[in-house]
Amino acid sequence: MTHQLRHMLRDDDITHEEQKQILKLGMKFRENRFYSQPFAGPQAVAVLFDKNSTRTRSSFSIGVAELGGYPLVIDKSSSQLGRGEPVADTARVLTRMAYTIVWRTYGQDRVEEMAKYSTVPVINALTDDFHPCQVLADFLTIAQFRGGVDELHNKTIAYVGDAANNMSNSYLLAGAVAGMDVRVAGPQGFLPRKDIVDDAKRIAEQNGGSILVTTDPREAVDGADCVFTDTWVSMGEEAEYAIRSKPFWDYQVNDKLMSYAKPDALFQHCLPAYRGKEVTPSVIDGPQSVVWDEAENRLHAQKALMTWLIAWQREDPSLLGE
Ligand code: CP
Ligand code: NVA
Repeated sequence: MTHQLRHMLRDDDITHEEQKQILKLGMKFRENRFYSQPFAGPQAVAVLFDKNSTRTRSSFSIGVAELGGYPLVIDKSSSQLGRGEPVADTARVLTRMAYTIVWRTYGQDRVEEMAKYSTVPVINALTDDFHPCQVLADFLTIAQFRGGVDELHNKTIAYVGDAANNMSNSYLLAGAVAGMDVRVAGPQGFLPRKDIVDDAKRIAEQNGGSILVTTDPREAVDGADCVFTDTWVSMGEEAEYAIRSKPFWDYQVNDKLMSYAKPDALFQHCLPAYRGKEVTPSVIDGPQSVVWDEAENRLHAQKALMTWLIAWQREDPSLLGE
């Protein structure tokens, strides 16, 4: 392991083996919350929010504290970044104080700009394009319930709903990295960008997986090991609320749609969920749903990710616990 500044800006910033390494570390944190304390000191991690959050805020705050560090949480409304201070200048300042920068914002270009000027790892805590921390937690949840990290490449996952959003993009890329069979389904006009599908197909081929993009929700879910959905109206799209309901009704995850998946298929949702819209109460509150474990796994997966990034920076493979 040679010294390297690594970032997690999109799901394909890591390789197949690296994803497994992080998820296995996540399993260790699941078993023992205080498994390792790389930020003991305490060293600060800056956690910035330009959009609302409950799970990401709590899992990073608590996660950094449990890693022995100090979580410095800054909201857009109370920062100079929120008043238009350049991203580059913010990066130049934070990088001299914090040991990692975590940021939830709008454009993907913003986290890329932050990483360009940072000398510490930058983690994307959700942009309009990707939510890589969520999908690490989601894959940790599949590993938890269905045979461990080494079995992930044998799984078929289906995401149904707004297939043009950050979750859909992240399932495509992270699933391709994992070597899974990934299917995403959404209505015309709400399908993923070509460049993301092309990247996912190229990576899936390298790792023995496959990518299917379809407008047919049943085709996506057919025989799947895990079914995912997400809100039909993501943060920043609130003005489109009225036009974003009608096209999605055929993509609601209900008992009928779940019946096409494997009989023991898991159901996951990154949350917050809108019951009666993208998912029925019978599914999200039913026996196949693992959404609360999924939410808890944000904590374990992100602690593993932060530890992994710091291990690269410090050239310290002992932090990986292998
Ligand atoms: N799933 C997720 O990122 O939740 P929050 O928006 O509450 O952080
Ligand atoms: N697609 C949703 C995910 C929320 C965690 C959004 O961006 O609002």
